[in-house]
Amino acid sequence: MNFQKLTLLLLIFFIEKINSNAEENFDVRQHLSTVTRYHVAKEISEDSFVPSNINDQCTPIHLNLVARHGTRAPTKKKLKELEALSTRLQFILQSVEEQKKSLHDIPAWLWGWKSPWKGKHKGGELISEGEAELYQLGIRIREKFPELFKEEYHPDVYPIKATQVSRASASAVAFGMGLFSGRGNLGSGRHRAFAVTSESRASDTMLRFHDCCQNYKTFRKSREPFVDKLKEPVLDEITQVLVKRLGLNFTRQDISSLWFLCKQEASLLNTTDQACALFSPYEVSLLEWADDLELFILKGYGNSLNYRMGVPLLEDVIQSMEEAIKAREEGLVPGSYEMARLRFAHAETLLPFSCLIGLFLDGSELELILREQPLQLPPKPPQKRIWRGSTVAPFAGNNMLVLYTCPANNSSKYFVQVLHNEHPTPMPGCENSDFCPFEVFKERVAAPHLKHDYKALCSMESEQTEQTASRFLLAGYSLGNVTSYTTVVGAICSFLLAYLFVSLYIKF
Ligand SMILES: *[C@@H]1O[C@H](CO)[C@@H](O)[C@H](O)[C@H]1NC(C)=O
Ligand SMILES: *[C@@H]1O[C@H](CO)[C@@H](O)[C@H](O)[C@H]1NC(C)=O
Ligand SMILES: *[C@@H]1O[C@H](CO)[C@@H](O)[C@H](O)[C@H]1NC(C)=O
Ligand SMILES: *[C@@H]1O[C@H](CO)[C@@H](O)[C@H](O)[C@H]1NC(C)=O
Repeated sequence: MNFQKLTLLLLIFFIEKINSNAEENFDVRQHLSTVTRYHVAKEISEDSFVPSNINDQCTPIHLNLVARHGTRAPTKKKLKELEALSTRLQFILQSVEEQKKSLHDIPAWLWGWKSPWKGKHKGGELISEGEAELYQLGIRIREKFPELFKEEYHPDVYPIKATQVSRASASAVAFGMGLFSGRGNLGSGRHRAFAVTSESRASDTMLRFHDCCQNYKTFRKSREPFVDKLKEPVLDEITQVLVKRLGLNFTRQDISSLWFLCKQEASLLNTTDQACALFSPYEVSLLEWADDLELFILKGYGNSLNYRMGVPLLEDVIQSMEEAIKAREEGLVPGSYEMARLRFAHAETLLPFSCLIGLFLDGSELELILREQPLQLPPKPPQKRIWRGSTVAPFAGNNMLVLYTCPANNSSKYFVQVLHNEHPTPMPGCENSDFCPFEVFKERVAAPHLKHDYKALCSMESEQTEQTASRFLLAGYSLGNVTSYTTVVGAICSFLLAYLFVSLYIKF
């Protein structure tokens, strides 16, 4: 027996095995960044965080909800992009046909492909899958916190606020239908009417601060070219690979549109064997990372203005808790004061709010933020990162801050529990606890941000924005080539295993 040959065979066998195992467990639906569906996002759990054991003498007395709208149709601009993709694909296929090249590598669905939304001219609305996400969330919240939702409905006891964008207000309605189902006299579902209020889009500093903040808009415009540059190497690399693999003359723009199509198909149509099947799991993870980088830079920790402009929302949350505490201390009867403040908005609302309460950070990153220093960008796969669009802001993604009162001890009587997508979530600002004494929450988590003023942040010709932006650039990033770290590690492991087997083989 030729041992070298055997080693090689075993090596190949193990590499194949390791790779195929990784690919079998890979579900593209969990890697769609902010296009990920809620029920999928809710099941993604990578950390081993153990939630606090809450004393059963503690009772919830108030709840703040900040939720993103549910699953929506592609926006008008994106509908046009898909129509353009259809034309492009036909052109590309035609040219290979004319050149009489081999066609067997080309997936059948590409021939004559038309956008599933062809002929649809309006976009961006909440679709029925999105309604269901919010409706079910409403039902689950009522079941989880019966003490909070047993009072009779009154708009001041359960205020529901949405932005003046239809997918957000429709999300609020779907949620309310779930929350109050069986409580009214309308139809067989015994529904009841409830109010959803909105500020005007132009002055909604609580839920659409990104739209009212001039400095943010300027920052965002100035950063977009940088973000595109950052994504280019990923798109170019994948373009080259696909051009080779399929023999089709794709451009960077085509690949970008095909990735968009993959996300829409997988999320809205539950189809993963067409556009998504063009990409390997590793390629998907790179495209997902590129999306997440954009999210980080333009809507997340990438620039302090991104979240600081959310101070009016944070102030509103703290104020609602203080009012609930006051009502309780004054001994008001339940039902005569607010029990929950329910808000329905956008990723541009939810992400800054998460950043303001310091979610998805490790301890050293929190230090940097408090010292006003920029964070590193989320690391490239296969390195792990906490910042993933599919968990931080999926469709219907949400944060709940539940205020509890606990039997008086000398320390603290009121506590804040943080739930992200309904899971208890640690706050680095509160010693990594998900159950934080209210005073600590106020002083250590919120206060460092609340010293900033919305007007000053947004309307000043502030130097601060410029400085942060340029510092961030200096902290720049090198995007290496697309070599798979797992494959290398896999190969080393396989080699060791193969060696072991060969040694055994020689022995017996
Ligand atoms: C691909 O496109 C480039 C320019 O866009 C062109 O020069 C080249 O000939 C095309 N190749 C094929 C195989 O169609
Ligand atoms: C989506 O497709 C998967 C199989 O790929 C199936 O198990 C699942 O039930 C489908 N979900 C829906 C909502 O149709
Ligand atoms: C109150 O203090 C007692 C004794 O120090 C402790 O056992 C109990 O867990 C505390 N309760 C709360 C709600 O912290
Ligand atoms: C609570 O405070 C009282 C006096 O204010 C003190 O006698 C008692 O020991 C304290 N209890 C705890 C658990 O700290």
